[in-house]
Amino acid sequence: MKFLEAGFVQGFIRMANDGWEQGWHERNGGNLSYRVKPEEVEQVKEDFEPKEWQPIGTDVPDLAGEYFLVTGSGKYFRNVIIDPADSMCMIEVDEAGTNYRVVWGMVNGGRPTSELPSHLMNHEVKKKATDGRYRVVYHAHTTNLIALTFVLPLKDEVFTRELWEMATECPVVFPDGVGVVDWMVPGGREIAVATSELMKKYDVAVWAHHGMFATGEDFDLTFGLMHTVEKSAEILVKMLSMRSDKLQTITPDNFRDLARDFKVTLPEKFLYEK
Ligand code: 13P
Ligand code: ZN
Repeated sequence: MKFLEAGFVQGFIRMANDGWEQGWHERNGGNLSYRVKPEEVEQVKEDFEPKEWQPIGTDVPDLAGEYFLVTGSGKYFRNVIIDPADSMCMIEVDEAGTNYRVVWGMVNGGRPTSELPSHLMNHEVKKKATDGRYRVVYHAHTTNLIALTFVLPLKDEVFTRELWEMATECPVVFPDGVGVVDWMVPGGREIAVATSELMKKYDVAVWAHHGMFATGEDFDLTFGLMHTVEKSAEILVKMLSMRSDKLQTITPDNFRDLARDFKVTLPEKFLYEK
């Protein structure tokens, strides 16, 4: 099968374009990665043209031998649907989990996203925590969520609770809550370690004054998660723009009732008295 005809490649391209259409990817902002299934590698491997091995910048031994689709560093989400072979690539991780090589794409040169350490360390954590079910890691510059990182305390409990209160279905969509990373220099191992530590507990990590990481089983669930969190952030921004306090809201006991009927577990640390 031709690389670009494969279903998982089409799904990746569609998700990148959906993110562009949401306005989350100015210029080269954001990046996306997908851990490819072995049978999907088989579908497209006749198109592979392996390049030189390069250091990942961190160690991901539990991802040894795995293949990933990733967006390119400095590449625009706007262009993924127009010229995928220029904007994205497939990479292979070596047997030690310390190097990668491009096997398809980046036809005009370049390298995978500068956030590759964060993507791969998140994949490593999620692969282990979900028995291999999670395959997608998505970073976007979500406007409203970023705005909130200037006015809310940078605490997991506060972000989770405030986002949950803005839309009844939020605690059902992200019952584990969201984690928050203080401002850090992006693109390196340090922020990757901090983010992947949060991914042991959550599917969402907020990067203060920068954006968000979301993880999930497939493209729909991961995009839907990012969309739900950002929609909730938008409602909070609108609410705070009208007045700084709430006349009424969803209470801790309301959340407990919701948890019972929807059969989700909501950690009590988010249901604190204000
Ligand atoms: P890349 O173009 O290297 O993916 O970087 C974009 C970005 O959002 C960095 O956090
Ligand atoms: Zn970014």
